[in-house]
Amino acid sequence: MICLASCALGAMWRDGAANEVNAIVCAPTLHGAGSSVNAGDLNIFHPVSPPAFEIRNLAWLVIGIAAAIFVVVEGVLVWSIVRFRKRAEVLGEPVQVFGSNPVELAWTVIPCIIVFVLALATVRTIRDVELQAPPAGALEVDVIGHQWWWEYRMARGEGDESMLVTANELVVPVGRPIWLNLRSADVIHSWWVPRLAGKTDVIPNHVNHTWFQSNTTGVFLGQCAEYCGTQHANMLLRVRVVSDDEFNAWRAAQALPALAHASTAAGRALFLDLACMNCHAIDGVSSGSFGPSLTHLMSRETIGAGAAPLNAQTLRAWIDDPQALKQGCNMPSLKLDADQLDDVVAYLVTLQ
Ligand code: CUA
Repeated sequence: MICLASCALGAMWRDGAANEVNAIVCAPTLHGAGSSVNAGDLNIFHPVSPPAFEIRNLAWLVIGIAAAIFVVVEGVLVWSIVRFRKRAEVLGEPVQVFGSNPVELAWTVIPCIIVFVLALATVRTIRDVELQAPPAGALEVDVIGHQWWWEYRMARGEGDESMLVTANELVVPVGRPIWLNLRSADVIHSWWVPRLAGKTDVIPNHVNHTWFQSNTTGVFLGQCAEYCGTQHANMLLRVRVVSDDEFNAWRAAQALPALAHASTAAGRALFLDLACMNCHAIDGVSSGSFGPSLTHLMSRETIGAGAAPLNAQTLRAWIDDPQALKQGCNMPSLKLDADQLDDVVAYLVTLQ
């Protein structure tokens, strides 16, 4: 509960006027390029989804009780300091009192009652938030945590069992329950988008579940909430909640094979000759799965799981030297010359 209150206060502090601070503390970006990408509302007191509402309500209860305790304890302290301050007319030691059954009973029983109330409220919230099965009509999404990015898999369409694979940006329809099956490819991560739901650990060799149902469209940001190595801080989450029509259009576009213009053949050939294809899948071109799928790379807004905004310049800088943008990440620099960089970037930017 103390943790919950401190997280809540942290989230309040990070909100609003502290947005520039937020970009530094919560979402480090390099070269100052991405402050607009990562500055966003991470405030647990602005929920838009049932689990987040429950958590907000519990946070207020805990803060309310803690505030009342603070006022009572500090009030008695200040009153004692003033009432029993040293005064000229009082000489010698004050009257010494040893033991008081009513007082000792009170400061044992009252805290027990408070802890009991908080425990009951917490257990009830956990029970309400953690569903055992997907809610009716839910869209199921598989989430796979990797050092240091997120993989998402969902059905290509209603009644279609085959999966489309994307990375780092989850696009979902508004008003529909989203059921997440969380897995990890390596170490423990934690999926946390504060305005949608609470933290859920993403554990190797174990499937965890969480869910949300946004009541409004928009982009909701979050971050990996379990330390998972060097680039834990740049393992950012981005959930785009859109209308049903936009979602269907997005899903149909994602289900299409990658574009292959004749004009980008040089870049595509380089992609296949170099080590790129070992780690990255492009539908119909390569099938690597160690790094994010690039089939519809340019449909995303960021690169490096939120490390920087995605455009031709950042993409070129990233391929040139990923370590400069995200030190410690698992993508090496392939030491391409300027012409090779131009060709590869020219190809990748066509992957809409
Ligand atoms: Cu993944 Cu921290």
